[in-house]
Amino acid sequence: MGKRLYDIDNPPPLGEVPEQMHAWLIRPERFGEPVHSFKQEVVDVPEIRDDEVLVYVMAAGVNYNNVWAATGVPQDVVAARRKVGETEPFHIGGSDASGVVYKVGAKVSNLVVGDEVVIHCGTWSADCPIARSGADPTYSPTFRTWGYETNWGSFAQFTRVQAHQCLPRPRHLSWASSGSYMLVGASAYRMLAGWGRHAVRPNDVVLCWGGAGGLGSMAIQIASAMGGVPIAVVSSDDKVEYCERLGAKGCINRKRFGHWGILPHWKDQAGYAKWRAEARAFGEAIWEILGERRNPRIVFEHPGESTIPTSIYVCQRGGMVVICAGTTGYNATVDLRYLWTRQKRLQGSHFANDDQARALNELVAAKRVDPCTSEVFSWDDLAQAHQLMRENRHPYGNMAILVGAHAVEASVPVEARDSVPEVTYRQPRLELTPGETHPHRTLVSEAMHEGLITCSVDAKLAEVARLLLDNRIHAAVVTKDDTAIGVVSQTDLVLARQGRSRQQAAALTAGDVMTPDPLTCEPDMLLTDAVTLMARQGIHRLFVTRPENPNVPVGVLSFTDILKRIARPT
Ligand SMILES: NC(=O)c1ccc[n+]([C@@H]2O[C@H](COP(=O)([O-])OP(=O)(O)OC[C@H]3O[C@@H](n4cnc5c(N)ncnc54)[C@H](OP(=O)(O)O)[C@@H]3O)[C@@H](O)[C@H]2O)c1
Repeated sequence: MGKRLYDIDNPPPLGEVPEQMHAWLIRPERFGEPVHSFKQEVVDVPEIRDDEVLVYVMAAGVNYNNVWAATGVPQDVVAARRKVGETEPFHIGGSDASGVVYKVGAKVSNLVVGDEVVIHCGTWSADCPIARSGADPTYSPTFRTWGYETNWGSFAQFTRVQAHQCLPRPRHLSWASSGSYMLVGASAYRMLAGWGRHAVRPNDVVLCWGGAGGLGSMAIQIASAMGGVPIAVVSSDDKVEYCERLGAKGCINRKRFGHWGILPHWKDQAGYAKWRAEARAFGEAIWEILGERRNPRIVFEHPGESTIPTSIYVCQRGGMVVICAGTTGYNATVDLRYLWTRQKRLQGSHFANDDQARALNELVAAKRVDPCTSEVFSWDDLAQAHQLMRENRHPYGNMAILVGAHAVEASVPVEARDSVPEVTYRQPRLELTPGETHPHRTLVSEAMHEGLITCSVDAKLAEVARLLLDNRIHAAVVTKDDTAIGVVSQTDLVLARQGRSRQQAAALTAGDVMTPDPLTCEPDMLLTDAVTLMARQGIHRLFVTRPENPNVPVGVLSFTDILKRIARPT
């Protein structure tokens, strides 16, 4: 008779399924920063259905989707599952894994106990008419991402998966590396190979955003394997060598440009002209790398709101911008003139089907695509790994967590790369030549309001509301250890009450609802540029910082301040 529960570094004998298992759980009452919302607990091992298998997890991959799950934004994954009849009050995430099959369902014919597998995260009902018709099952309304939209993901000793999700584990890889690449790899494969006449062709230029990230590192390699010419976008020069080693012809550091975010309104002629000049300069940076005036036929997108206007602008006539996420926001603005007159395609893409996951796995098995596993974390560091990802401070490529493989791989050294330095948006300083006769030379310093009203990151919402009302202000700066880390506005407070009970809203703090990393400007920025920046970002104020102390705002510039200046008697 076996044990009821096995330690994390002590695998049960092959095929023996204990009653209980260790797992990292997210519960709705803890939604928030990943370091707080993930907690280790012991739960019952789930039963499997006839078309499913139970896999003993050796290693799990870290993906952005479980950063979303931990925060409860953009959706409460537990509540979403309740709507489809699943009653567990918790979420066990994890959408990538390597492991060993421990139990097979009655109707499973392609796997036996003992098979070593990697798992892709696409699930659907085999009874759905779309899946039964032989059409792409990712179009099925039953399509759900295992370990994000379904429970019982890989952040546990056992995971429950549909048999078709399992693929042979590439034998040249460690368990950790085998468990790290499938979600981003198969998603990138579909984006680059799955869209008919817009599949990458030899010599096509492919612009890959976030080249050193999980998706981007896969995209560079896949585009290269298909004969394309990948060009990567990164946020610091230290990522350049990494991307070039993966096959990028060259890299563009996006920090050299400042035109990101929602397009200036086409009626804002000054702002629009400036945006177009920067977008054109970004396009010229692509030509410079290529040594010829050729635009990308495929733009590999996932940042979304910040970058889509540029992606559409630089895409070749008749080319495609293919997008699978909106990490920076969902309100993408498109100058339709470039889309229709130049006949470009904006294509959504979501994970992959079995054939695409298999094709990607074969590229990995053939050593044509490297999993790019940059750091392997121990079981106890799972929440911390997600926190790093939330803060864009995680290492390049993909991360893995040792689960059952702890015993065999914990002491294997993995090259740990330097963390990406934290970056904040900063508008380039504008130089004014003495005596210049620019019609709009008013500076931010002439219109701004000196001084700020602040609240602590831990302040409860009622306290923040009182602060705003008593001081007749629309927003306050949120501080932690005397450093400004966000801004909380009346809008944030009102939205926090939407869909929540009074008690749920009362438990929230300024840190839960604030907008992190508020946009800043410097006192000598031109007021006209500040207006364009605010209008494009859809915000009502900028915090003013001095270059010598960029973390501590000294004042605020709001539309009200600007209106007061415009309306003052001449
Ligand atoms: N739907 C799907 O099938 C699917 C599949 C996989 C992933 N996703 C989603 O895709 C997104 C990226 O996933 P990932 O695993 O690649 O994450 P990741 O490893 O964090 O990489 C994202 C990269 O985006 C870049 N980035 C961050 N902020 C940016 C900005 N403001 N403008 C331009 N680039 C920015 C960063 O590179 P630099 O700072 O160097 O530019 C970062 O390396 C996530 O939202 C994830 O949920 C969707």
